[in-house]
Amino acid sequence: MVNFFYERDYYHLSSNQRLAHKIAEILNIPVGKTEIRKFLDDEIMVRNLSDVRGKDAYIIQSTSRPASDNILEVLILINALKNSGAKTINLVIPYFGYSRQDRIALSGEPVTAKVVADMFQSAGIDKLITVDLHTYQIQGFFSCPVINIETSELFGAYYHKYFESQGINEHDVVVVSPDHGSVLRARDLGSAFKNASLAFIDKRRPAPNQSEVVSVIGDVKDKHCVIIDDIIDTCGTINNAYDALVSMGAKDVYVCATHAVFSVNELNKKIKHIVVTDTIEKDDDSISVITVANLIADAILNK
Ligand code: R5P
Repeated sequence: MVNFFYERDYYHLSSNQRLAHKIAEILNIPVGKTEIRKFLDDEIMVRNLSDVRGKDAYIIQSTSRPASDNILEVLILINALKNSGAKTINLVIPYFGYSRQDRIALSGEPVTAKVVADMFQSAGIDKLITVDLHTYQIQGFFSCPVINIETSELFGAYYHKYFESQGINEHDVVVVSPDHGSVLRARDLGSAFKNASLAFIDKRRPAPNQSEVVSVIGDVKDKHCVIIDDIIDTCGTINNAYDALVSMGAKDVYVCATHAVFSVNELNKKIKHIVVTDTIEKDDDSISVITVANLIADAILNK
């Protein structure tokens, strides 16, 4: 069994150094070495500096901002590892960038989630491990096995403990999906609380990066509302959901979201508590962070 671990090398590139080290520590294996350079014309070079011959290599990298550079780093390292004789190349993408463009909403639009999936696939990956993919269908864009780790249980355990410490009765908790895309996440999170009910927000997007609430479905009056989403980017979805819930009489609002993209960092300060994961590295003391390192380590071990 021990040899099984030593047969693997793990790589972090630019985006998830801390997370990669945590995973390696849990698995008790060293992090593989790379040299990353950018030439004067912005071309990227990633060189493998570890002995990977005959080994299963795991590359850990979120394709968060700068998404295009991070994607290229991965593609280039895949090639370098193949040239170095790795037996299999396994990709761990905690945050899968470009995933929100996953369907044709207006004629002429691309499906960029498929474009990116095709690039990784044709570069020759053997497996993909990712966290809370924006939509389940993206798994079908790959022909290799895909493990999509879900975090609602992690958030459920977190808020269960948090409410207990604050003396909040879980009968007064409502789990809120801020749009139709997070309904299943809300249902899963709700199962962590005793008799919590669910509410849904009918959100529309009049233009990219803009959102508006049409209505709130469910009773939130005098309730502690927990909004769950996969991504916080411009903060529009969460802030609009907060306004709608408060206008419907919610007592207070809590938030959990997997991927802290935060292109704009302007969450409403009146939100009682916010927790995200470390799929994207974030240094902000006002936001709690829970790690997905154990979940990823389990997925690597196929637990
Ligand atoms: C949308 O479908 C996603 O699930 C998130 O709700 C969205 O990406 C959040 O983006 P923003 O913070 O810009 O509203």
